[in-house]
Amino acid sequence: MAAASFAVGCAGPQTNTSNSNVSSNTANSNQRASTNTAVVNNVTDKGHDLYVKNCAECHKESGEGGEKVVDGKKIKADNLTDDRRKKLTDEKMIKAMVEGIEDEGMPSFKDKLSEAEMREIVRYIRIDLQKMPADKPYSNSAAAASQPQ
Ligand code: HEC
Repeated sequence: MAAASFAVGCAGPQTNTSNSNVSSNTANSNQRASTNTAVVNNVTDKGHDLYVKNCAECHKESGEGGEKVVDGKKIKADNLTDDRRKKLTDEKMIKAMVEGIEDEGMPSFKDKLSEAEMREIVRYIRIDLQKMPADKPYSNSAAAASQPQ
């Protein structure tokens, strides 16, 4: 009896007016997460949540990072809002999450986050921390390469 149990308690407001997430002609590969409907639109909410849980401990909620002692070792988390990090492509950010930067104290998240979740985090970083326009973050190598210096 699987009747009528779809999409109920998913309380978030689901406006579908002028959704800014239109990805019609961008070169963006599959930005749309593969989960079905709902949630996906409010990308940064989910990204924020994931970011706070997984990254803020070192990179701070503001994204500015800084020094911190982990297991007796002093590490310095990069400022994710600076120009260098703005220029990192999505792929590089994801690579940092997948592989970690072990020598420097950044753990690998490959067993903790799915690729879709990593993309949500990148989107959150772009839009809310780096204040990039939602429709054109430096989203992939092609776009980044053609940025005028
Ligand atoms: C335990 C601390 C810690 C956590 C948790 C952490 N990082 Fe880092 N992160 C670091 C450190 C330290 C560096 C600087 C590495 C270096 O100096 O090369 C760094 C660097 C980075 C960089 C820059 C890579 C580059 O090539 O410039 C990115 C992007 C990044 N982190 C994203 C994230 C994201 C996204 C998360 C959450 C999923 C996260 N980090 C969680 C410690 C952390």
